[in-house]
Amino acid sequence: MGKRFYVTTAIYYTNGAAHLGHAYEMVVTDVIARARRSFGEEVFFLTGLDEHGLKVQQAAAAEGKTPQAYCDELATQWRDLARLLGLSNDDFIRTTEPRHRSVVEAILTRLHATGEIYKAGYEGWYSVREETFLTDKDRNPDGSWDAKWGQVIPLVEENWYFRMARHQDWIIRYLEEHPEFVQPESRRNEVLGFLRSEKLEDLCISRPAARLGWGIPLPFAPEWVTYVWFDALTNYLTVPASLGDPAATAALGPEYVAPDTGISLWPPDLHVIGKDIVKFHAVYWPAMLQAAGAALPRQVLAHGWWQKDGQKLSKTTGNLVDPVVVISEWGLDAFRYYLVRELAIGPDGNWTDESFRSRYNAELANGLGNLLNRALNMLNKYREGVVPAVSQELAGDAEQARAETERLLRANDLQGALGSIWSLVNRANLYVEQTQPFKLAKDPAQASRLDEVLYNLVEACRVLAVMLAPFIPHTAARIYAQLRLEGTPDRWSLGTWGGLTPGHRVGTPEPLFPRKDLVPKPPR
Ligand code: MSP
Repeated sequence: MGKRFYVTTAIYYTNGAAHLGHAYEMVVTDVIARARRSFGEEVFFLTGLDEHGLKVQQAAAAEGKTPQAYCDELATQWRDLARLLGLSNDDFIRTTEPRHRSVVEAILTRLHATGEIYKAGYEGWYSVREETFLTDKDRNPDGSWDAKWGQVIPLVEENWYFRMARHQDWIIRYLEEHPEFVQPESRRNEVLGFLRSEKLEDLCISRPAARLGWGIPLPFAPEWVTYVWFDALTNYLTVPASLGDPAATAALGPEYVAPDTGISLWPPDLHVIGKDIVKFHAVYWPAMLQAAGAALPRQVLAHGWWQKDGQKLSKTTGNLVDPVVVISEWGLDAFRYYLVRELAIGPDGNWTDESFRSRYNAELANGLGNLLNRALNMLNKYREGVVPAVSQELAGDAEQARAETERLLRANDLQGALGSIWSLVNRANLYVEQTQPFKLAKDPAQASRLDEVLYNLVEACRVLAVMLAPFIPHTAARIYAQLRLEGTPDRWSLGTWGGLTPGHRVGTPEPLFPRKDLVPKPPR
């Protein structure tokens, strides 16, 4: 078996429930994973949870729970959400799992043995809330500390450091020579700008266990636990290493052993993450991997952040969009569709209920839903549901849309890909207006023209199902089922024109996206 297309989301902090922003990242990654599978590639899609750290420890304590019990409860919620979102992930990692702990231990042991990790004392101001040392640059102009830092205390502490400073030059060169490594371009420029203007410092990778109990002890100095990025980023290595992928275990030294399952994943093909953690993925992570002797990921794709009604999503102010609520009211595929259609991968987005409703009605109910409904209704009414002879009239439009959609999907332009699919939806709806099959049906002399029109309409719906499957898999399957076709439209090659065979009998239409009242509901 060859190497699979290995794609990941960030791992999510277990200090609360998932919101729109997290769901977006998961859905975007799922669409990419499904598209690649549809193209015939073997894919491995990983998502999961980042469970260690002071915030989780504190959140658990506030609820009177042990951190593990607290994380276990949240993990169940997050897993349920992944299922609700229809994610096709192949694994779900939790950083509290033994398989992760042994990989973190192994990479740290190796880097310690090769002199990449050292101990040093540090004296400074420490923000308890943000778990970080502050410098004078972080002070307000009047010398005080901003409220966002919470309590700031003087702290003298010995910690362990990873020699990251020495990686600066080659990472700059690497980014210059591999423009595809960080996408979109604006984020790559940001990282390059930072690397060219600021000196990279060695990275503190520990916290004293006395202060932070909830973490993985350093294998060579258990009085400290691993702090943040060596724990979090390593999750991407954990899964391939524990499956025995030699390209991943190579980073871990001889003491790490895992049975070889024959699955080849390393290096990751794509890390999908938000704009706030680009530096960690595009600078820290390559430095860590290079030091450990592992190949670098091929691409980091950074998406923007969602707001709601022009304001930041926030637990405190309650300005949130709960994916569970939207899905229960509008259905999963309406939610998936809106996320991907509304926001390109890169800029920030803004959720408004009004724009959601308007896309639902215009594009899903009136656009796609209506097309299928009309095509099936007319075929049933005029030809008893029996598919007429193959006609090529819309074949060119369909093939063009399919080629363009594939190109855009391969470039991770999911919004553009949906735009391209809708060019066919709109073309087919326009075709109904232009050819007026309901008039043709009244004139027996036009019978063969009506056959042609009907073939083009139902076949366009079939091709659309294939193209839509990565985005809205349930709807795609429903279109297939209403056409009474066997199987699921999950292979891109099924989308070539002419797949519906003459004589095949289709089913009756059921609304894909029931029209919702445009008038706001009265308060319940
Ligand atoms: N645990 C770290 C990531 C470690 S990756 C090795 C973390 N967790 S997080 O829960 O805070 O964020 C997880 C992902 O959700 C990040 O990619 C982040 O950008 C994304 N988002 C969080 N809020 C978001 C929005 N409002 N909108 C879009 N994505 C958002 O960071």
